[in-house]
Amino acid sequence: MNFLQIANARQSCRAYDENRPVEEEKLNAILEAARLAPSACNGQPYHLTVCRGETAKEVALATKGPGGMNKFAPQAPVCIVISEMPYCKGAALGVKLKGTDYRSIDMGIVTAYLTAEAAAQGLSTCILGWLDDDKIRTLCGLEYPVRLVITLGYAREGDKLRAKKRKEMEELVSWR
Ligand SMILES: Cc1cc2nc3c(=O)[nH]c(=O)nc-3n(C[C@H](O)[C@H](O)[C@H](O)COP(=O)(O)O)c2cc1C
Repeated sequence: MNFLQIANARQSCRAYDENRPVEEEKLNAILEAARLAPSACNGQPYHLTVCRGETAKEVALATKGPGGMNKFAPQAPVCIVISEMPYCKGAALGVKLKGTDYRSIDMGIVTAYLTAEAAAQGLSTCILGWLDDDKIRTLCGLEYPVRLVITLGYAREGDKLRAKKRKEMEELVSWR
């Protein structure tokens, strides 16, 4: 698949096949893609915690929100927790001088790499931003804030590729 095909294939999966585990080599490829992601000053101010089995279930339960939000998450056999790490010196100076939240940008990019490689491997993901930081930090033994949880697994049979709802190109892009 080329990148546009991957971008079209990736969608938020909210129906996982609970009985189909993620192969170790596919998981490793996904983590390698994440490892190769660029970041401000190459600081990589994040940590990835791979949760499987009972820990994945508990982490998933800690993403439940009002109105049944994220109730599908415990079906996913794997949860990847993305937590913050301190800035490196260069990025810290940039933050101070420019006031830009580089770390959030970096975590977005690592998430994009990870979810794109998952799609390339035929796996499905959902990025979860609604989460209980305290609970997940305790479950994973993390010192710094948890920012995202990525559910990962195979989509349940019959889970169709949806048409993408996005801004029109004219609204998204301007040319000068
Ligand atoms: C930072 C971030 C946080 C998100 N949090 C949630 C979430 O808590 N629960 C959920 O079901 N989807 C969540 N999503 C998924 C978005 O709703 C989804 O990406 C968007 O609607 C586009 O749909 P698609 O991913 O299927 O293309 C999140 C996505 C991002 C990028």
